[in-house]
Amino acid sequence: MTVLLATFAGMPEGEPGCEALNRALTARGIDFDWAVWDDPSVDWAAASLVAIRATWDYAVRADEFLAWTRSLDQSRLLNGADVFQWNHDKAYLTDLEPLPTVPTRLAASHAGFARAITEFGTCVIKPRVSAGGAGLIIVTDPLDSRLGQTLRSHPTYPPVGGPWIAQPLVESVRTRGEVSVFVLAGRVISQVDKLPVGDEVRVHEEFGGATRPVPIDPSIATVALTANEWLTQRFGRELDYVRVDLLHYDDVWVVSELELIEPGLYLDVLPANAGPFADLIAARLCSS
Ligand SMILES: Nc1ncnc2c1ncn2[C@@H]1O[C@H](COP(=O)(O)OP(=O)(O)OP(=O)(O)O)[C@@H](O)[C@H]1O
Ligand SMILES: [Mg+2]
Repeated sequence: MTVLLATFAGMPEGEPGCEALNRALTARGIDFDWAVWDDPSVDWAAASLVAIRATWDYAVRADEFLAWTRSLDQSRLLNGADVFQWNHDKAYLTDLEPLPTVPTRLAASHAGFARAITEFGTCVIKPRVSAGGAGLIIVTDPLDSRLGQTLRSHPTYPPVGGPWIAQPLVESVRTRGEVSVFVLAGRVISQVDKLPVGDEVRVHEEFGGATRPVPIDPSIATVALTANEWLTQRFGRELDYVRVDLLHYDDVWVVSELELIEPGLYLDVLPANAGPFADLIAARLCSS
């Protein structure tokens, strides 16, 4: 039986740097294949294990994607559909008490945006369901015309419950960047620092940002492990993989995101992440 690593049609061969993961799996004698999540010819039920890896189009087809994850055998799926359901909507950031987190408010209307601007001053507004920094705007003035454009961009405007979150702009992203810590089966395995360029706050490569591996910072690892423990309590089991993203806010590192669906492993700059991920797969195959 084969392990299936789920990717998307834009990257059928796998995520950037996946050669390192391919080699690590092969070295462990694990039979595997990359498969496109919405390819109807893939027999997911025949897989020994499914790992969601690079399904990077899921945010624009979230309902379809989540239904597909529910259709998989949950005992042979890393993390699990219940985790994906919770994690796909950034509203989860308002659930994370008492973890240190970037303050987050739900916003469904112009009044919601204006309230957040009154509370935080300069705000980041972003869709609750999104990836790759899509739809993010920075606003200081409640009369900013981009707020109206943002509202009109939503197909079901005026929605109930709100499809955006608002946060204070964490200025340190420009100097200290955003940090990602990988926790696999409860162990912190690596850390990367990601820095934006110019006026941009988004750290992604597409926006000119740079990612580099750095030694694990013990105080950051502590926050990541606390987040992992919180998730263990929340779901009643230890998750297979967790990527904790952090920003430096009010003099401490706080959670900016928990990436539990398809966090890039940054294998192109950190090929050493491949070995521990392959070990995780090997361990899951042994235990099932
Ligand atoms: N409140 C904030 N203050 C400063 N920078 C922010 C804030 N929120 C987001 N950013 C910047 O914008 C980027 C994209 O935001 P975020 O990660 O929340 O969106 P996303 O669409 O889920 O992206 P991805 O899926 O790639 O992580 C972050 O990586 C960070 O660089
Ligand atoms: Mg992010």
